[in-house]
Amino acid sequence: MEKYLINPNEKKSVISKDIYGSFSEHLGRCIYEGLFVGKDSAIPNVNGMRTDMVNALREMGLPVLRWPGGCFADEYHWQDGIGDPSGRKKMINTHWGGVIEDNSFGTHEFFELCSQLGCDAYVNGNVGSGTVREMSEWVEYMTFPGESPLANLRRKNGRDEPWKVKYFGVGNENWGCGGNMEPSYYADEYRRYQTYVRNYGGSDRIYRIACGPNAEDYNWTETLMKKAAWHMDGLSLHYYTVTHDWDRKGSATEFSKDEYYKTLRKAYHIEEIIRRHLEIMNRYDPSKRVNLIVDEWGTWHDVEPGTNPGFLYQQNTMRDALVAALTLNIFNKHSDRIRMCNIAQTVNVLQSIALTDGADMVLTPTYYVFKMFKEHQQNTLLGSFLTSSEAGSDSDRLPQLIESASIGSDGVICSTLANTSADETAEIKCQIADSAVKEIRAEILTGAIDAFNTFENKSSVVTEKFTAFEKTADGFTAKIPPCSVVKFSVEI
Ligand code: AHR
Repeated sequence: MEKYLINPNEKKSVISKDIYGSFSEHLGRCIYEGLFVGKDSAIPNVNGMRTDMVNALREMGLPVLRWPGGCFADEYHWQDGIGDPSGRKKMINTHWGGVIEDNSFGTHEFFELCSQLGCDAYVNGNVGSGTVREMSEWVEYMTFPGESPLANLRRKNGRDEPWKVKYFGVGNENWGCGGNMEPSYYADEYRRYQTYVRNYGGSDRIYRIACGPNAEDYNWTETLMKKAAWHMDGLSLHYYTVTHDWDRKGSATEFSKDEYYKTLRKAYHIEEIIRRHLEIMNRYDPSKRVNLIVDEWGTWHDVEPGTNPGFLYQQNTMRDALVAALTLNIFNKHSDRIRMCNIAQTVNVLQSIALTDGADMVLTPTYYVFKMFKEHQQNTLLGSFLTSSEAGSDSDRLPQLIESASIGSDGVICSTLANTSADETAEIKCQIADSAVKEIRAEILTGAIDAFNTFENKSSVVTEKFTAFEKTADGFTAKIPPCSVVKFSVEI
């Protein structure tokens, strides 16, 4: 029996709702087909945005959306995506599949999508192939309330009021697809570009995000913090879970138990990566003014057989759900520094929340994890401790149980647990310090390690009521099934 202690007296950081954000790039069928079908489509839509997807993301509580990339961001020239859609430039999406990008989804459409979703906007600017002027004018176009050439152009294109840009990224992966820069060179470029990301919106200051490291590139973090910390609000980290290696990632649906554990062990590695980047950030910024932003994370498998390799379309199983659950628990635990995270990506690309096929849509196991965890949004992280055996194969081991616990303003404790073992139930005894428990509700997402939803069977993996627990005077005991994600909502 594992011991689980939750201490409501030990209130830690507020879990920013934006940790539960997503990322949508002009890549494959993410924006086009997945989110945007155009006003004239036979697929039900409002102003071109597919209704089924908007409803699903609203129910999931999506707080923030990053756009337009990714690698696409550093090739995107925003002026190509404004004005009458019929007159917009048609061009090649050189980075992703060489398909025609007709620019029918641009700045106005992005803000229309955010408004329908009820979420905040995270816009990523172009450093790699754009100019300071171009970036500065985009910010003016989007956010200037008064009379100015760019604000007037926005009005001419049908939008009087400025939009709120909550987050602005100054380049993406500038160590790679965003210009192959050295950290020191990018730090200087970052300082220059961000100078002209002006705040026109009164108290609505734009939160500036510098391109941060790729996975374990600690030197990048060190250099950026040393040279540019004072000019940024956030530093972004990218980390993808690749089961084998970049040349042979492995199938999304056909994998052995050993490969399941390899994936989870690699996903769990983000804990060490975050800790080590934070150690560096703490040295330069002990007051924790600059946040860590994880604006690309998730699994990256081989594309589904027969699909365009440049579209990064992959299925999503219980294994991906476990990756999501353990990662989100780790983000919650670091919410004193982590302000926003954006899973890659929203639909039809990488670790998607949903997949579409024409007018049809299916929600993935990852969707259900996000929906279960939404109760953590804006809760306060609590001190918690859980003893745990290890799970795994001989070479790939990780804790069997990974959790986080938080409390809402209504006094309800939310505890989310991932049981990473493929075949062992975990018995836990939870004690909530100095508390009498009134009521407990619980939900579970579970299935075979390779279970997934299809267009033919959309409810193979869905959340269900969980009953394998007993309330005690000051907590509960529970049997957490293998390969499962469980949420307890505890009224004290
Ligand atoms: O999410 C797919 C790609 O992965 C993004 O465009 C890029 O930033 C990263 O390498």
